Amino acid sequence: MLGDASSVVVVTGATGGIGQAVALAFAAEGYHVAVNDIRIDDDCDTVRLIKAAGGVARAYSADVSDPQSVQGMFDSIREDLGPVRVVVNNAALYDSFDPSVVEPDVVVRMLTVDVGGPLFMIQSALPHMESLGGGVIVNISSLNGYVTIPQNTVYASAKSALISLTKGFALSLAPRNVRVVSVSPGFTETKAVSYYLGALSEERRRVELDGHNSRIPLGRLGRPDEIADAAVFLASDAASFITGTDFLVDGGTHAYNTVFTYNP
Ligand SMILES: NC(=O)c1ccc[n+]([C@@H]2O[C@H](COP(=O)([O-])OP(=O)(O)OC[C@H]3O[C@@H](n4cnc5c(N)ncnc54)[C@H](O)[C@@H]3O)[C@@H](O)[C@H]2O)c1
Repeated sequence: MLGDASSVVVVTGATGGIGQAVALAFAAEGYHVAVNDIRIDDDCDTVRLIKAAGGVARAYSADVSDPQSVQGMFDSIREDLGPVRVVVNNAALYDSFDPSVVEPDVVVRMLTVDVGGPLFMIQSALPHMESLGGGVIVNISSLNGYVTIPQNTVYASAKSALISLTKGFALSLAPRNVRVVSVSPGFTETKAVSYYLGALSEERRRVELDGHNSRIPLGRLGRPDEIADAAVFLASDAASFITGTDFLVDGGTHAYNTVFTYNP
């Protein structure tokens, strides 16, 4: 039975933002939560908030782009909490640069974290899931996997690749009762968004912020807890026939053809 009270979930990149919201949402459902980030300890807000609410959580430092670091984390989680039933691949690098001049090592690092990371996580999670008779992988992709802006070219390429990786693994792991899905958030209120807005001139930032109301059909940015709710749903038995697909949580942004301005 997926998602029973003592199921273990590991959430990567979960010290803040969407990852923290995902960790808190799974804890609220009774999951025991392995909270990962590249550098993290049990004093972090995410673990403290879960424990304060009566839940079970432990912090695990690991670099998702390093397969050995990932394997070590899964070994420790099995020892501390038991086998992992659900993985949420949330950790990612976001950056904004001119793709025609970006340094090759920056490109390689971004692709290794944003695409390699989820792949290494799935490889290490499989023996855990097989020992349980199944499991669920939720990859956090992005609206950028569908549509982008010039300065997000490399990030967008990584997020498109993650949607393809989701489909491929869904096919190969279906016979082992492992579902693989992705969630693609639109613009969501986190530090990454503050970073993007902070890099703009004041005038450009005002235009950008004013534009949210008109370009996002629901008229606002998303909240991390709204992305987390989608991840919890997709990992649950309520989504038992859903695999190999992407779930856009973007306030309708991708549905909106902004070429036409007629708005009755
Ligand atoms: N915020 C948005 O508007 C938005 C929109 C679409 C998609 N997303 C996606 O949602 C996810 C979370 O976004 P966020 O805005 O909360 O970002 P964030 O930058 O706040 O969180 C990312 C986390 O990943 C961690 N991390 C980075 N490299 C790592 C590594 N090698 N190993 C382990 N951890 C690592 C970081 O330390 C950080 O805590 C990302 O996958 C992002 O691409 C965000």
